[in-house]
Amino acid sequence: MNTSVSQNQRVLSGMRPTGLLHLGHYHGVLKNWIELQHSYECFFFVADWHALTTHYENPSIIAQSGIDLVIDWLAAGVNPGSSTIFIQSRVPEHAELFTLLSMITPLGWLERVPSYKDQQDKLKDMDLSTYGFLGYPLLQSSDILIYKAGHVPVGEDQVAHVELTREVARRFNHLYGKEIDFEEKAQIAIKKMGKKNAKIYNNLLKRYQEQGDGEALSVGHALLDSQQNISIGDKERLVGYLEGGGRIILPEPQSLLTASPKMPGLDGQKMSKSYNNAIALRESPKQIEKKIKTMPTDPARIRRTDAGDPEKCPVWQLHQVYSSDDLKKEIIEGCTTAGIGCVDCKRHIIDSILVELKPIQQRAKDYQEDLASVENIINEGCEEARDVARDTMEEVRKAMGITLR
Ligand code: TRP
Ligand code: SF4
Repeated sequence: MNTSVSQNQRVLSGMRPTGLLHLGHYHGVLKNWIELQHSYECFFFVADWHALTTHYENPSIIAQSGIDLVIDWLAAGVNPGSSTIFIQSRVPEHAELFTLLSMITPLGWLERVPSYKDQQDKLKDMDLSTYGFLGYPLLQSSDILIYKAGHVPVGEDQVAHVELTREVARRFNHLYGKEIDFEEKAQIAIKKMGKKNAKIYNNLLKRYQEQGDGEALSVGHALLDSQQNISIGDKERLVGYLEGGGRIILPEPQSLLTASPKMPGLDGQKMSKSYNNAIALRESPKQIEKKIKTMPTDPARIRRTDAGDPEKCPVWQLHQVYSSDDLKKEIIEGCTTAGIGCVDCKRHIIDSILVELKPIQQRAKDYQEDLASVENIINEGCEEARDVARDTMEEVRKAMGITLR
């Protein structure tokens, strides 16, 4: 277990600006982000370089989608007062870390990431046999490690990327976490904790290193976490010392999988722009009504008088997302006895979606009419992010011996 004492309460996540957000993003990702803001220090960013790995032939969509993305986040409830919102390319340190990490990342690690082949097979109309696309997950690792994020909220398809990030961090710490005078510095740091705590620490160290006592390790982490007298650098050193390695410069992040089930699209498959079954957050009420009204239903319900089976109907899946238990009971009863028609059944869904989207669309409109305030939020976020990224890069350069300046 590799934890950084100070930064593991930081959350980082990004989205690629390749089009408008839809209800699948809202239910699957954004609601989770908004929730996380209450318990963590959150960094959310527009991954425009990542978008370029697939859209390099037609990049014009990236700039506009980037602004729209931020507007949608804000409209959905991402709070710029508590979260840092920024643009990847405005923090060029990500690219520097990407370059440095590429020196120590075996090619096989990247070739084995499942999304590499999967996406190449799926996006047949794009030539993805580029160096940039192969490096996609390592760029993502740099995004994460440069903020020393402890938690990365991602979908299942991204877990392998976080896993790669952990491996790269481990390799980095193994190669560069060993200061020549590490032992000596660790001893000095132990003394700085005071006699009593030093004794406790040394005891825990012994218990963990000699007996592999896992509890001693977690008690040790807690002890270090609570120290006020020593610097962050010393804490990281002592975490590393406790774990029997060198200093942890780049802490390993964890994936935070979203618990929410997949948002069904208009055809019952997972909602996705590429399946053409999505409802955009900015879609007009009229258009939404039309899309739901033309949704397929149980094919056996040809006439109003035919009974139906909700299990065979994509509208029913939307009731799972939007309707109360009482209403769901009513729908099952009505559908299976032909007591209600599909039009009535769909009306509930239309109403729920419109109620959900109304405040979001209103806020999006307000932001669109006040782009200057969106730019301000982005500028501030970029500066905040850059401060953190600069600090990490100083440490990284020093550790790797890039000191010719
Ligand atoms: N690859 C992510 C996606 O397609 C976007 C992304 C880029 C990201 N960098 C990241 C997500 C860092 C989390 C952390 O969804
Ligand atoms: Fe589907 Fe509702 Fe029609 Fe039943 S009544 S088939 S659940 S739309």
